[in-house]
Amino acid sequence: MTFDRSIKIAPSILAADFASFGAEIRAIEAEGADWVHIDVMDGHFVPNLTFGPPAVKAFRPHVKTVMDVHLMITPVDPFIDAYAEAGADILTAHVEAGPHIHRTLQAIRAAGMKAGVALNPATPAEAVQHVLDLTDLVCVMTVNPGFGGQKFIDMTTKIAALRAMIGDRPIHIEIDGGVDPTTAPMVAGAGADVLVAGSAVFRGGSADNTAPYGDNIRAIRAAAEGA
Ligand code: DX5
Ligand code: ZN
Repeated sequence: MTFDRSIKIAPSILAADFASFGAEIRAIEAEGADWVHIDVMDGHFVPNLTFGPPAVKAFRPHVKTVMDVHLMITPVDPFIDAYAEAGADILTAHVEAGPHIHRTLQAIRAAGMKAGVALNPATPAEAVQHVLDLTDLVCVMTVNPGFGGQKFIDMTTKIAALRAMIGDRPIHIEIDGGVDPTTAPMVAGAGADVLVAGSAVFRGGSADNTAPYGDNIRAIRAAAEGA
């Protein structure tokens, strides 16, 4: 993975047809996805349950771009090696998931993956200030994590503060939750480069009818690049 700040669209497969993950992943990549976003939920850190390491390992052969794994679990450290073995390219942990994010980020990199840190809406940008040198990506939640299809929460002030804090360091700013062609210009304008989108990408299409996926991805990208 080479670093650049061009706009990247990362569809979240939480909005895909759960009975057709392989075909859905191939479809979004064929229709222009830059990364594939995988939401791991443990029913404890967030009130929903999704994918353990075996499921993520099954997704791997279908992902030809970047497998961006978002952990909404606590604790994180006992699972780092399993997600590395499953083939995650980027593994993101929440700063709120435990008291030792500095150790967690080091362990993610030591396991050979890119390390990401995520911030819930209530968590200030300053919470990650002292771990940015251990980080390849900061994920700013624009919904309270746990579900797709929620209303966007404006975090543009926090995004701009992070962008200033990061400076020239090769660290992505990822936005997650409620991203669509209306909200994409706001977050891109504030300094984000990776836009996660679930419902706004998968809306209106299917693995057999993929053209709407392409239309949706292009619409989000055009809106963000026009910011
Ligand atoms: C929510 C997840 C998001 C979600 C995005 O906790 O982290 O990735 O799937 O879905 P939309 O784009 O529908 O808000
Ligand atoms: Zn996510």
